[in-house]
Parts: sequence; C-alpha cells; structure tokens
Amino acid sequence: MDGREELRAAVPPLLEWFRRNKRDLPWRTQRTPYTALVAELMLQQTRVEAVKDRYNEFLRRFPTAESLAEADEEEVLKYWEGLGYYSRARNLHAAAQIIAREGFPQTWVGLRSLPGVGDYTAGAVASIALGLPTPAVDGNVLRILTRFFADGRKIDGQGAKTYFSALLAEVYPPETADLTEALMELGAIVCVPNGPPACGACPWSGLCKAHLMGREEDFPVRGEKRARKREELDVFVLRRDGLYALCKRPGKGLLAGLWEFPNEPSAEGKLRGWVLKNGDLLATERAKHVFTHVEWHMTGYLATLPSACAAENDVWASAEEIRSRYAIPSAFKAFMKWLE
Ligand code: ADE
Repeated sequence: MDGREELRAAVPPLLEWFRRNKRDLPWRTQRTPYTALVAELMLQQTRVEAVKDRYNEFLRRFPTAESLAEADEEEVLKYWEGLGYYSRARNLHAAAQIIAREGFPQTWVGLRSLPGVGDYTAGAVASIALGLPTPAVDGNVLRILTRFFADGRKIDGQGAKTYFSALLAEVYPPETADLTEALMELGAIVCVPNGPPACGACPWSGLCKAHLMGREEDFPVRGEKRARKREELDVFVLRRDGLYALCKRPGKGLLAGLWEFPNEPSAEGKLRGWVLKNGDLLATERAKHVFTHVEWHMTGYLATLPSACAAENDVWASAEEIRSRYAIPSAFKAFMKWLE
C-alpha cells in the first residue's frame, strides 16, 4: 500500500514520544478487557475530563461484567448520569449480560457484534486489551494521518476511515495498545482539533508533509457540514407540596427511558397555558443543550401548584430522591438548581 513504509518508520518515534508524554488516566492502570470496554464506551463522544470523574466510581460499583450484568438498569443509568448519550449505558449493560453468559469476545468481529460497539470501539478495545493489530480510527486519527501524508481525501464519509484503517493495520507493532493510545494522545494534546497544532512538540514534525509545507491548517479536508436541527422547548419544574413532577421519556429516540421534567415544543403551548392558569410562576430561565444532531433551546419555568392539583406526570419526587435515584439527562442541568 502507498505510504506504508513511511508510516511504519514513523511508528517508533511516536511510541517513544507516547511513553514519555502520556497522560496519567484512570483507565490506563490495571486494564482488563472489561475495564477497557467500559472506558471506551464512556469515552465515545465524551470528553476525557468528564469520564475521569465517573470511571472509577462506575467500576467500584460494577467491578466485573458479571456484577454489571446482574444490576438493575435504573441503577446503571444512575451511575451514567452526567455522561450523556444514555443509550451507551444500556448497550454496555446488555453487552455485560452477553459477556457474563458467553465470555469476553477474543476477536474484533466478536467485539463488533456487541451492542454499542462500532468499528472504532472494537478496534480500540481489541488493540488496547487483546493485543490485536486493529486500529481505532476516528476524526482525531484522520486529522493526524491526513496531515502526515498531506492527503486531500474528504474525511466525512466512510472512505477515508476504511483507507487509513487498512494502512494502519499493516504497520502495527507488537505493542498494539501503545500505538492505538499514542495516536489518541497525539490527537488530544499535539495535533489538536480546535486551533493550531503544537508542531513544536510533535514527534512527527520532521516527517509530517503538511507541516513541512506549512499547510497544517489545510488538512483534513471536509465535505459539506450538515446543520444541526434547532428545537425550541418549554421545560416545567412543577413543585407541589415539596415534591416535583417527573415524566419518563418514551422507550425510543433521544434520551429514551430517562426521567425528565415535563416539557413540550414551545410552539405547542398547551402545557404552558395550563401551568400559567393553574400554578404560580416563580422564575423562568433560558438554557441551551447541544446534542450531535439536534440542539435544544429551552425556556425553563419554575412554578408551584396547589395541593390538590393533578398534573399529567408519572411520579412526584423530592429533590433528594431526584438527585440520588432518578437519572436526569444533563440537558436539564440548568434547571436542577430550582430543586430545594
Ligand atoms: N478516547 C477514546 N479512547 C481513549 C483512550 N483510551 N484514552 C484517551 N482518550 C480516549
């Protein structure tokens, strides 16, 4: 394959750099296939800093696939709180049940067949925990490699991922975990996603074609970006006799099955009309939450309802219960301060 020998020669300096510069992250000590799977699922679309806080706590409560398999889904979701994209927690729970029954998969294909495990995660876990030469190629790795080769292929589709995965697979050293993580590390602290890369600190500065041409910022090349959908939402924190109304989201779609404050599209106005008529409005506040494909622009309403007043919610819960027992998505975080 074109470029294979150049890339192979670039692996040793990268590994050397990684050993000297890697961050001390909780999932890099005492790694098992199960803990690697937990870490990689948590790290999907989530910042390292956010995962750092939750990873150890999750593993203290669910130290093995068996212990996770036996847990209640509600409890698993509670331990996922704040990480967002809760379908990952459900998938991890389901994966743990498969692993508890059948053992941990020993191949990329076996990992890929677990719920919630895509090409990237299968590649990461197989190379990090099973010693297999399977790359994990995401936007960070594509940024690094398109710069290294000054390669102008568009990175949005599957094509560039397939191409660079095949190329990387051919140059894996025996230290498979180190190469996978070295690439992640380079993408996180040197060849960074936002802003100019720190080429002065890069082990590839003498090899990287984009850098040698002074054209780092021209790579990667992107196709058209799809705009996120914007949704206006009214969210109601309704207090009645010291308890708050919660609803369970439907079992499909965004944030499926999680608990939330009653809400509706702002244009609907039905619930808003009902609250203004029956309750006492104490405060309002605007907040925004950005998901991958949608952004919510929310107006929060804090209102008290008279004792006998029935709302169309699923449960009434105290502030303490909401904080300790119900997994409320981070999207509603701005309104949690109203609970007292
Ligand atoms: N992002 C995804 N997986 C990671 C890992 N194992 N270490 C650091 N960042 C990551």
